[in-house]
Amino acid sequence: MHTHQSPPPSSIPKYLQENDLTQECRDVISSLPTEEDWVGSNHLHLFQGFWIISTCMAGVLAFQKYFQARDTDIILATTPKAGTTWLKAILFSLLNRVHYPDLLKHPLLTSNPHVLVPFLETDLYIENQVPDLTSFVYPRLFSTHLSYNSLPTSAKASNCKIVYLCRNPKDTFVSLWHFTNKLKLRGTNSLEEAFDKFCRGVSLYGPYWDHVLSFWKESIENPQNILFLKYEKMKEQPTYELRKVAEFLGCPFTPEEEAKGVVNDILSLCSFDNLSTLEVNKSGKLSSGHPNEAFFRLGKVGDYTNYLTAEMVEKLDRITEEKFRETQLKF
Ligand code: A3P
Repeated sequence: MHTHQSPPPSSIPKYLQENDLTQECRDVISSLPTEEDWVGSNHLHLFQGFWIISTCMAGVLAFQKYFQARDTDIILATTPKAGTTWLKAILFSLLNRVHYPDLLKHPLLTSNPHVLVPFLETDLYIENQVPDLTSFVYPRLFSTHLSYNSLPTSAKASNCKIVYLCRNPKDTFVSLWHFTNKLKLRGTNSLEEAFDKFCRGVSLYGPYWDHVLSFWKESIENPQNILFLKYEKMKEQPTYELRKVAEFLGCPFTPEEEAKGVVNDILSLCSFDNLSTLEVNKSGKLSSGHPNEAFFRLGKVGDYTNYLTAEMVEKLDRITEEKFRETQLKF
């Protein structure tokens, strides 16, 4: 039972304001399986096979209904906590490298990557049902957390390119647990409680495994349009992976750029050490109310060993093996 007093509405961040839901949203949500969200004061709904937070539902519906993809569009798709912020920075720098040759004046030094590369369903389609996207320069670069199945028909039917990033489930879980605890207005979720939900698939845009599989399958069938990346591989071989992304997006590094060290320049600019120490990312909030610093915690592979018990590791490994049995996917 909750005995605490509620904070005044003005102090509640936007991502928690469930009371503002549209009628269309309430109608859709009313028939869906529902669970309490990890941050509290909010709910998750099982929509088209994935758990969507109530405050994002209006944006998801509008994105699906109104988005008109162009063949030249680039969409960065991720499971939450896979390294979205990192890849947003990388893709923005890669695609705009001609516009910002002077790294000392680069927009990433003064803007959080989520501002430069907005989420379609939670930044663009949530405020305004049909946002004006004319200010986006060619090629338009967007991001999404939706599964492949839930992408708008226009995106799936177009020739747009999708870069998908995921991360091993153990680090993804630990990162999500920290992140949602940070966003809670009070208290923390116990690791055990959150772990149980994650394993049952009840997590932001989860089940995690179904999300990964949705893009994996499509990337096999349609490698021209979907590039499947892993956080661990990006960490291990960043220059190799960045060149791969550049080629996939049709903007490979020229011999002159290679000679000038542009690949390493982009990686240094977008590194955890650089981005996490910039003033813009240490303070301030996104328009959604999320604090910028919440997206930069540790940025390492294998931090799960500091949190999960041997039984938890064994359980997650078993689920992962079962879910990915039919695939070549390994983490
Ligand atoms: P940890 O919580 O393990 O540190 P997302 O951007 O999808 O929300 O994912 C956040 C995770 O990516 C966090 O992981 C965060 O620290 C890490 N991250 C953020 N910026 C990064 C960067 N530039 N390089 C590597 N990892 C980064």
